Amino acid sequence: MTKVIVVNGPNLGRLGVRQPDVYGRQDLDTLRKLCTEWGKDLGLEVEVRQTDDEAEMVHWMHQAADEKTPVVMNPAAFTHYSYALADAAHMVIDENLPLMEVHISNPSARDEFRKRSVISPVATGTITGMGFYGYKLALDAVAHLLSE
Ligand code: DQA
Repeated sequence: MTKVIVVNGPNLGRLGVRQPDVYGRQDLDTLRKLCTEWGKDLGLEVEVRQTDDEAEMVHWMHQAADEKTPVVMNPAAFTHYSYALADAAHMVIDENLPLMEVHISNPSARDEFRKRSVISPVATGTITGMGFYGYKLALDAVAHLLSE
């Protein structure tokens, strides 16, 4: 099975308790289980990770590029300002690997600072506003892209 990493940025370890009106009541463990099941159905071995640390997330991109691992990424707040993460995501794309950006909420419909993503211009595609289901769509997109 092809391995895919699903990486989540800062504060997403607080899913379930953090702004449930925006992010829902399901926690990161539930997301992990769902992504693993969805991946299995698509023939993908999914590993879900979360970090509050920009350097760790950058390092995961280097690893993905070196190990030729496709990426599903919710960069959380890093989305809006991390050029370091955008550059690292570019290294994954440079290896001709899919890198799907996912947001649980629709950042464009929220605060002004959320309207800009520095990751979107680099990513293969972006899915927003679909809750956890967005990760399913992103995994489906990865499976589709790998089959092309
Ligand atoms: C988010 C949207 C970001 O603006 C925010 O900083 C997050 C989560 C989302 O999944 O909707 O932490 O990426």
